[in-house]
Amino acid sequence: MAEELVQIQGSKAEKYASLIPQIKALVSGESDWIANLANVSAALKESFGFFWVGFYLRKENELVLGPFQGPIACTRIQKGKGVCGSSWEQKTTLIVPNVDEFPGHIACSSLSKSEIVVPLIQNNEVIGVLDVDSDQLNDFDAIDERYLNELCQFLVSL
Ligand code: SME
Repeated sequence: MAEELVQIQGSKAEKYASLIPQIKALVSGESDWIANLANVSAALKESFGFFWVGFYLRKENELVLGPFQGPIACTRIQKGKGVCGSSWEQKTTLIVPNVDEFPGHIACSSLSKSEIVVPLIQNNEVIGVLDVDSDQLNDFDAIDERYLNELCQFLVSL
């Protein structure tokens, strides 16, 4: 496996376009799901400097904190609660430009200002979510949605 990521200068789309194949190569040689999610969290954090990047994994009827990079976070989220639980319930990506304006947002840190949550869907069931937080308002858009969805679809296919 590659020992370090190649970081390019450029637009956000160009950075994702460079990073995603590297992540695919990184995780393709490893069958352990937790190890791969840990490296994906680290790769996204290192490449973009997001405030918090991590996974919540569905265990029975709640989401439980999985591999992540960033400050400590809340450990359990119920279906329909917060951005993560809403993404699970709605089976869709949610972009929140200002977390203070999202009803029921779960604030693990007051420094988090905007957020994107992408569900991991396998056999039409949500098996977890990828959650990315920024300390900047309005930091996520259709470019993040496109590439993070591609990444999540790849991860559930492993
Ligand atoms: N803000 C999330 C909770 C997880 S933390 O951001 C790491 C939510 O509302 O679901």
